[in-house]
Amino acid sequence: MKIRSALSMIGVLFLFAIVSACGQGGAPAGSAAAPDPDTPEGRAFLAFQYRQAVMRVAANKSAAVGAMARGEVPVDEAAFAKAVNDLHAVAGMMGEGFMPQGAPEGSRALPEIWTNWADFEAKAAALTTATQALADATRTGGFAAASPLVQSTVQNCGGCHRTYRMRTEE
Ligand code: HEC
Repeated sequence: MKIRSALSMIGVLFLFAIVSACGQGGAPAGSAAAPDPDTPEGRAFLAFQYRQAVMRVAANKSAAVGAMARGEVPVDEAAFAKAVNDLHAVAGMMGEGFMPQGAPEGSRALPEIWTNWADFEAKAAALTTATQALADATRTGGFAAASPLVQSTVQNCGGCHRTYRMRTEE
């Protein structure tokens, strides 16, 4: 498991390396050019891009799961099970997105992540434990068994953001 996620991290970094190797075209129009991936700044930037991608997928999947649990969209057992499994997979990819450490421009990662690394990892692990329970309940009892666990599962997101993600200006 650890090795597999390390490999997936390497895969993502490799893709980013290819994209940035394509020159100025690698950076979206209007944004600053990505730093050289062979420098510490470059590696911190790639980790930032990786975790943004992972967090955005997590947001998409938890929105799909939450909408059904709240009765906002009709229950579709297959779609629910897929979103739950995807959410669990992506939860397990979060922690590695914060290594190597660093908060490049645009990042909302707070320095406490790295000064309280054990607690940060514990919060990431708590999410994975919760998504595992959700996936297990879905497999054995479908939506009916899993939906009561949805709210407490996604509370893990806010539980980490409150401490470790910079607030946006309100
Ligand atoms: C262990 C801590 C932790 C957990 C658990 C966590 N997040 Fe995050 N999340 C962060 C941090 C820190 C950032 C800021 C990262 C940065 O900007 O460098 C972030 C950023 C985000 C972002 C903004 C991404 C962007 O576009 O910049 C979204 C959306 C998000 N998280 C959704 C979620 C959802 C949904 C969950 C739960 C399913 C979740 N997160 C669980 C720590 C966590």
